[in-house]
Amino acid sequence: MFLKEKKDLRIHSEIVTDSVVDLAVSGAIPPSPAGGRGAPITASLCIGSERVFRFVGGNSMVEMKSLSDIISPATILSREKFTAVNGAIEIDLTGQSCVGMGDQMGYFGALGHAVFNRTAMFSPGGKGIIALRSTSRDGRFSRIVPEFTDRKIGIVTTQSDVNYVVTEYGCVNLFGKSIRERALALITIAHPKFRQWLLDEAKRMNYVYEDQVLPPEGADYPGSYEGLCRIGDKDLLVRPIKVTDERAVQNLFYAMSRDDRFHRFLMHVSSLHHKQAQDLVTVDYTSSMALVIQNGQGRQDEIVAVAHIAPEESRGTKKVCEFAAMVDPSWQNQGIGSFLLSRMIAVGRDLGYSLMRAYVWEDNMQMLRAFEKLGCGMTQELDCHVYRVSLAIE
Ligand SMILES: CC(C)(COP(=O)(O)OP(=O)(O)OC[C@H]1O[C@@H](n2cnc3c(N)ncnc32)[C@H](O)[C@@H]1OP(=O)(O)O)[C@@H](O)C(=O)NCCC(=O)NCCS
Repeated sequence: MFLKEKKDLRIHSEIVTDSVVDLAVSGAIPPSPAGGRGAPITASLCIGSERVFRFVGGNSMVEMKSLSDIISPATILSREKFTAVNGAIEIDLTGQSCVGMGDQMGYFGALGHAVFNRTAMFSPGGKGIIALRSTSRDGRFSRIVPEFTDRKIGIVTTQSDVNYVVTEYGCVNLFGKSIRERALALITIAHPKFRQWLLDEAKRMNYVYEDQVLPPEGADYPGSYEGLCRIGDKDLLVRPIKVTDERAVQNLFYAMSRDDRFHRFLMHVSSLHHKQAQDLVTVDYTSSMALVIQNGQGRQDEIVAVAHIAPEESRGTKKVCEFAAMVDPSWQNQGIGSFLLSRMIAVGRDLGYSLMRAYVWEDNMQMLRAFEKLGCGMTQELDCHVYRVSLAIE
């Protein structure tokens, strides 16, 4: 259990179970009421082994309350960073999830599910998380589905309530996203063997573009490149690009000036249609790669910069990649371009490249300066107003 590493957790749940006792024993939950905040565990019933009941009896860490107190939105809203974690049997491509089975007898866990999930995301710093296995236990069925199957009942998270969804293949935030973005995001965290089927179904239902593609099979998202970078007084998230970033990359493109766009593409480009944007967000993570800088890790994620490398040519054993980047004008000259350049040099090296190239318009002082600041050997050749900058990265 990852939560055992945490400190000062508080539990507010319908049920105290053996896992809550494990957490308390691990020290992740403070042992007694502190700072006038009341008992660190509040719940309304216990389910589990005898250990749970022995733990709860006479323990000042635990306060049992009525169910209506526990699932009261006012109580949940009053807690900071309230994170609701709920399961689901199926989630459809629009983001609504259900906890019910076709058979009513199997109905479970719906009581506070919707209230917890919906209210948590409005508590200060809070999140609602739906966590589910990507497939049925025997692996035969996807639990991310185009439409609910077998008369599944008990829809508890509606399209407007859904926030984070987690499977063993990753985490996506669906809040405020369009149906197209949701379908695509959910497909990327489905089990790989069901992704193409889900994409075909999403096309059949007109949720996504007819020509929508997924990253090539076997292109595993390289999470090791995720991290934070400090720009000014802000920590921004740096991470590999995903196919779901299409709209955010379009927004970045449209925020750039005419000159900036010219500098990035070395031609006048006034629009970035789906096809072109899709090319920018589809990389194979093994020969082509892109990193984005994301501002905000909550409901309104915004991409403020993106840098790409892609194979340019192979000459003998020298593998050459081409670098290009764009930074939102309101974030320029704060070090983001230089940060991405050095990160991409490291990525290029990891991918086996020995030379990095960039084609830089002669008056693009910012990009030239970013290369110059690296302080390592590079060559520049001017040809028809464009510098061909080459950098050994071995
Ligand atoms: C080029 C670009 C990626 C650089 O990103 P950035 O975040 O602004 O870069 P940085 O802040 O790391 O570095 C820019 C440097 O240029 C300097 N600079 C800005 N204007 C300058 C000018 N007119 N003359 C000389 N240097 C200048 C900045 O002061 C800074 O240097 P410093 O850190 O020593 O002060 C960004 O400006 C951009 O997106 N431009 C449009 C697209 C583009 O040109 N892409 C490159 C295609 S290869």
